[in-house]
Amino acid sequence: MPEVQAQGKTFQCEAGTNLRQVLLQQGIALYNNRAALINCRGVGTCGTCVVQVEGAVSVQGWREQARLSLPPHSPTKARRLACQTQVLGSLRLTKYDGFWGEGDRPMWTPEG
Ligand code: FES
Repeated sequence: MPEVQAQGKTFQCEAGTNLRQVLLQQGIALYNNRAALINCRGVGTCGTCVVQVEGAVSVQGWREQARLSLPPHSPTKARRLACQTQVLGSLRLTKYDGFWGEGDRPMWTPEG
């Protein structure tokens, strides 16, 4: 069973689990500041659920590719929309600053 490390927590989930759903269930601060209230609830349009992912996840679909190609995101950064991503293997996650999580300063890492 895949193991996920995020914000100092380690937990397991079934392969194929939606990454946004499992992070929220585990109490991980997926959204920065007001994005916790103002987000698209997993539709894939707001772009605020972005995390940096190390590990095996599903390939990007057209909706995610489109959103990550729009500012302030950049398709050159190795970040994913959690709501559009399925967990396929063990993961290490990092969340960055900025309303959309587009910054370069970590808000949290796998270790804390
Ligand atoms: S929750 Fe809005 S894009 Fe993921």
